[in-house]
Amino acid sequence: MSAPDLKRAAAERAIPLVEDGMRLGIGTGSTAAAFIALLGERVRAGLSVTGVPTSEATRLACEREGIPLATLEELPELDLTIDGADEVDGNLRLIKGGGAALLREKIVAVASRRMVVIADAGKRVETLGAFPLPVEVNLFGIGATLRAVEAAVAQSGCAGEIVRRHDASGATLLTDGGHAILDLRLGRIPDPEALSARLWAVPGVVEHGLFLGIADAAILAAADGEAAAVS
Ligand code: 5RP
Repeated sequence: MSAPDLKRAAAERAIPLVEDGMRLGIGTGSTAAAFIALLGERVRAGLSVTGVPTSEATRLACEREGIPLATLEELPELDLTIDGADEVDGNLRLIKGGGAALLREKIVAVASRRMVVIADAGKRVETLGAFPLPVEVNLFGIGATLRAVEAAVAQSGCAGEIVRRHDASGATLLTDGGHAILDLRLGRIPDPEALSARLWAVPGVVEHGLFLGIADAAILAAADGEAAAVS
């Protein structure tokens, strides 16, 4: 099975979790896009849900599918969030933010009673960190913030390069919230909780892509057609 097939397989397995009347957090990325397409089919067939999108891209995709939307101001508590991930470890700790939507994704996931990750099984890792950890930072003072993030990384037992993310035109990539992303190429994150605490202590860090104690289950689609559930 190709990667898009695996993503679709994971998305298909999440659809039965969606019940009529649910308030639904809707993730960002290509796996979430597969889920949105399937959810749109169900909505057009009569399923009633209200979605809260985790990015402008997801908002547009949901609108195209005719999925009714609300904001977290209107619906501050959600029943279920379905979202992708860049890495998932055996304790359901995640790296997210490859699509630069980590801030809204984390706000929406934490506002949900349940978060279920959908991904291809290649995202399952023993130790987080091979995927560069995205850290969303305020543009003001970004040079100083980068140095403080370097120190936080070293203090938490990690090492590696920190790179500012750029868009296709070479300009600093801006998130939906107007912030920049620093990608931390660490290779391994032996103590994600320690790194999380250190990063949060840096003024200028808006949020980071470590999702710790947030996901409740993961549906990981494998090439043999089996979907392993981590929960
Ligand atoms: C976006 C994300 C995505 O969920 C993550 O990057 C996975 O994307 P994909 O489903 O395309 O592999 O965190 O910020």
